[in-house]
Amino acid sequence: MPYDLVIVANRLPVDRVTQPDGSSGWRTSPGGLVTAIEPVMRANDGVWIGWPGGTEEGLEPFEHDGLELVPMSMTQADIEGFYEGFSNGTLWPLYHDLVAKPEFHREWWDSYVHVNQRFAEKAASLAAEDATVWVHDYQLQLVPQMLRTLRPDLRIGFYLHIPFPPAELFQQLPWRRQLLEGLLGADLVGFQLPGAAQNFVRLVRQRVGHKTHRDLVYLPDGRTVRASPFPISIDAAGFEEMARSEPVVARAAEIREALGDPRKVFLGIDRLDYTKGIFARLRAYAELIEDGQLDVEDAVFVQVAVPSREQVEEYRILRDEIDRLVGRINGDLGRIGRPAISYLHSSYPREEMAALYTAADVMVVTPYRDGMNLVAKEYVACRYDNDGALVLSEFAGAADELRQAWLVNPYDINGMKSALLEAFNAEPRETTRRMKAMRKTVTQHDVAAWAASFMSELSDVGTHGKAVKPARRS
Ligand code: F6P
Repeated sequence: MPYDLVIVANRLPVDRVTQPDGSSGWRTSPGGLVTAIEPVMRANDGVWIGWPGGTEEGLEPFEHDGLELVPMSMTQADIEGFYEGFSNGTLWPLYHDLVAKPEFHREWWDSYVHVNQRFAEKAASLAAEDATVWVHDYQLQLVPQMLRTLRPDLRIGFYLHIPFPPAELFQQLPWRRQLLEGLLGADLVGFQLPGAAQNFVRLVRQRVGHKTHRDLVYLPDGRTVRASPFPISIDAAGFEEMARSEPVVARAAEIREALGDPRKVFLGIDRLDYTKGIFARLRAYAELIEDGQLDVEDAVFVQVAVPSREQVEEYRILRDEIDRLVGRINGDLGRIGRPAISYLHSSYPREEMAALYTAADVMVVTPYRDGMNLVAKEYVACRYDNDGALVLSEFAGAADELRQAWLVNPYDINGMKSALLEAFNAEPRETTRRMKAMRKTVTQHDVAAWAASFMSELSDVGTHGKAVKPARRS
């Protein structure tokens, strides 16, 4: 059946799970993107194309919780070349300020082209005449152009969830022109921050030679492409409601008790990724204990590291490094029943995350580079009493909006130590003042507003397609 709205993302919004009886089933994945897109999908009877993970073949389109989902299969070679290779071994580090060294392999590029083509063909086969297609993230940057070639009638939007690098870095890519041209297949290219949109427009002017004016690119065929910022957000009301719920409040108290009721709890929650600055932040914390500025009887650091991309070499190395660091810190600085760091290598449901946010006095978010960082916003959304302190890297997109956090440069260990200490010792009046202001930002600019503004801008730009209906706000 043709659809008026097609969402194309590397991942489906559901995870494959094994049921208690041994059969396979699907579970809505906890990611924020599902929450954002779901209402727009429902309002437009849309369909979502994506990879369910793994190499299972022959998966049929299916309905889950009222959503139409189309699984894309991947072979082991696709996973190695397209996903682990070009997406996460080349683009990911390149787009994150070279925090790790990107690798350039021609076979990875070929695989990226091949998989993007398959996604584009699938989208082309599902979209109704004049439909809207919304393509997501760095794994699928060639899809807009491929799709436009197959289906010139479509209205195409693209949103990049991660940073878009400055020209000086991007131009290292041997396939820079192809990627820019891929993105220019869209009518609207959305970024997290204004600087990213400007980087893109500048590169298009320099490398592809198209005329540009502010956020517009003029193509020789008469089409215009708009490049604009749309800072993504979270379901703020949903998180607050969860944080206020009786089971979450009780669980938060249980967590603090299990930690030995320290005076203050520091918390970090990250995908286990080298961009997140986990190592540096734990070192800063440990030095504060060594220096005698913090005491393990007073404070504990809970670090949750969500397993991620475990087949990629850099991620394995990082895991080993963090394991060793935590072991060393606890061995050197912990006391019986009082480890300095409580380290959890696992993923948790949203309710448990809300309980952790509620239990934490100081949230520590210190990426070297991050598109947005939704954890920072989730913490703020959960602090309905206007208490709690946020230490936030100035290199996270969220720092543009959450100006009242204790902003830090994660490369500056001494600066980070000072900020951790200040946040730890801050007077309640000070934390309340800051938290109130941040809560205003997060509740006013939630994920529904993000999706609605992208969709409405997409309806306005270009000459293609029919407009999609905005989602009904609940
Ligand atoms: O936002 C960046 C991103 O790569 C998403 O595209 C992705 O869904 C998420 O991080 C988790 O990464 P992965 O899909 O590689 O597990």
